[in-house]
Amino acid sequence: MLSREPLFQRVAIIGLGLIGGSLAGAIRKHGLASEVVAADQHQDDLLLGLSQGVIDTVAQTIAEAVQGADLVVLAVPVRATRKVLEAVRPHLGADAILTDVGSTKTGFVKDVEAVFGAFLPRIIPGHPIAGSEKSGIRAANSELFNKHKVILTPPDDVSREHLAKLQALWEVCGATVLTMSVAYHDEVLAATSHLPHLIAFSLVDTLAGEDQNMDIFRYAAGGFRDFTRIAASDPVMWHDIFLSNRDAVIRMIDHFTHDLDQLRTAVAEQDGDMLLRVFSRAKAARDHFSKMLSGQAYVTNNSEKQVTFRLQPGGSVTGDIRVPGDKSMSHRSIMLGAIAEGITEVKGFLEGEDSLATIQAFRDMGVTIEGPDDGFVRIHGVGMHGLQAPRGPIYLGNSGTGMRLFTGLLAAQPFESELTGDASLSGRPMNRVADPLRSMGAVIDAAEGGRPPLKIRGSQGKKLTGIHYDMPVASAQVKSCLLLAGLYAEGTTSVAEPAPTRDHTERMLTGFGYKVERDGPIASVRGGGKLTANTIDVPADISSAAFFLVAASIAPGSDLVMRHVGMNPTRVGVINILQQMGGNIEIMAEREVGGEPVADLRVRFAELKGLTIPEDQVPLAIDEFPALFIAAACATGRTVLTGAEELRVKESDRIQVMADGLATLGVETTVTDDGIVIEGGQTIKGGSVYSHHDHRIAMSFAVASLRATEEIEIDGCSVVATSFPRFVELARETGINISAERSAAGADQGAQ
Ligand code: S3P
Repeated sequence: MLSREPLFQRVAIIGLGLIGGSLAGAIRKHGLASEVVAADQHQDDLLLGLSQGVIDTVAQTIAEAVQGADLVVLAVPVRATRKVLEAVRPHLGADAILTDVGSTKTGFVKDVEAVFGAFLPRIIPGHPIAGSEKSGIRAANSELFNKHKVILTPPDDVSREHLAKLQALWEVCGATVLTMSVAYHDEVLAATSHLPHLIAFSLVDTLAGEDQNMDIFRYAAGGFRDFTRIAASDPVMWHDIFLSNRDAVIRMIDHFTHDLDQLRTAVAEQDGDMLLRVFSRAKAARDHFSKMLSGQAYVTNNSEKQVTFRLQPGGSVTGDIRVPGDKSMSHRSIMLGAIAEGITEVKGFLEGEDSLATIQAFRDMGVTIEGPDDGFVRIHGVGMHGLQAPRGPIYLGNSGTGMRLFTGLLAAQPFESELTGDASLSGRPMNRVADPLRSMGAVIDAAEGGRPPLKIRGSQGKKLTGIHYDMPVASAQVKSCLLLAGLYAEGTTSVAEPAPTRDHTERMLTGFGYKVERDGPIASVRGGGKLTANTIDVPADISSAAFFLVAASIAPGSDLVMRHVGMNPTRVGVINILQQMGGNIEIMAEREVGGEPVADLRVRFAELKGLTIPEDQVPLAIDEFPALFIAAACATGRTVLTGAEELRVKESDRIQVMADGLATLGVETTVTDDGIVIEGGQTIKGGSVYSHHDHRIAMSFAVASLRATEEIEIDGCSVVATSFPRFVELARETGINISAERSAAGADQGAQ
């Protein structure tokens, strides 16, 4: 660092407190300026800063500090901003950047406009989210900003060059820089920082005023201490913040007091349901804080960590395992349980991010859901018409199934809603559901190209009208979406599928006592009925088992048993295809559990042969092709896939992304519009492949390592948690030489 040309010549810090001092120290530590000069009302603080090596030079006045500086940082209490700006203005260099570190931005902007007459493109308000209940130069710490967020709220006409320099400064200090508008910043901070401080101050003050206050504090449990830590913050600073962010804070206080009042009523009226609903919703939100709320909070890089899989070549797969619960059924169990009458209990629920997002969505619509607790979930159904308007956009993470099924359900509700998702989901086509729903009378706005976010206007008392729909593509998501909307529609809604697709919705609706007609390729429901609570045993997901079916088939010496695997005939394409390739898969203890066929599977190594995959198997194995491509690469002879253009619009373009990854590993393939041709028997080398934030791509290349000759590294693997939360542990347990490395957000962003 020190050998490089410093980013700035002279940085002037006005106000040498905790933040100013920490920034000065970080700038010096990283050699970001030739000189760091500070001005402060308190001479002692300046001298301390000098003796601690935090600054190079003490300035006697603001004017002296600012002269010749190419970066001026205001780190003073927000109430002092205007006066300080008046002292800065006459001496500010023509090319100098002016920034601040205050917790509210509207006030800073107003002060700048009052003092400078207008906002300048090189004035860039800033706010490091790194405060502490400590204050003053004595608490300064040059590592304070490391792994913290810094928000910049640049004006529209900001000088890009200056913005880039300021951003670089914060990044070298270890911070992640986010940019947003002034108004949004103040709204968000009112909710996430200012309101909690106000409540903490208020609670401590209330309790300190009680007669038995000494006892209260003496016996205070850890909860009180944790919750009120921030009430030890600097009162003057917080008084400034509340005065300057008045409007946004008042809105939040009103919202909070309204909700608190409802809880008061619930306690007074012994309304246990309400308490359970709010507490379990809050617990879930807190447990999944960084992930689930990331779509709505100010963290725009919604992955906090980057996960890379590293695989050593070779090995075989043995043991007796159960893979996690079926994703499709897990989503549906919550959806139908929520709109049923009574309490539905689910076991074997998949605690992956996709299905957890579905739980969170219903909690946001007022449904009490207990768990998940080791796969057990209890849903307090609210009936067909009991859902409440969600308080904000519903964030569905990576889940295409979630978004498509919710669109059908929500189109029939009387309230408005908005569905959002991560970067991968935001690129996926939604017109396939929006168009037929519109012909039922739904009003849905999508972003360009029919992509999310989806804004659903709500039926507003007008019922949807049942239609007959001939699906142009074989999609269980589209079929399920329309059947869900059809539960609420006038008359009959029927859907014809060009090829059989998974029928979990139909089976589960039947289990909940709702009649579904089946006439060849047509499934139909009549609107206006009701669902009665049910118990559901979700089998292990055949799509997750598929990775191990392929793993054991390709690795010599393998012999693996998998328990309680869902064997719905609309899902067993992967078994049919592997068996046709010569795979050794034994289907044991076939049984029916809760309306779904289940079996134990034993799979052993076999010499696989390539084949031309019958097109009728494509919808039955639609999620398993990435894994099957690995099987094809290890087989002898050619494998040809056609009629699978749907693979191009899954979590990634699974044809191209697999072809690219295979090419990196030395396996050449021929990509076609609707499929791929893979010549088996080529050597799988090692290399670094990228998952494109697609869970199934990541897991498929992990399996390929069993037949590789060198190490394989897979980037972008945090998304594996959407469908297979303990994949790495389970894979290791069976003999795959896998390790996962986690690091701070980087390339693996945006698709969680
Ligand atoms: C799913 C249906 C399939 C599948 C997806 C889950 C479902 O999608 O790929 O992973 O749960 O209905 P399409 O129906 O769009 O093919």
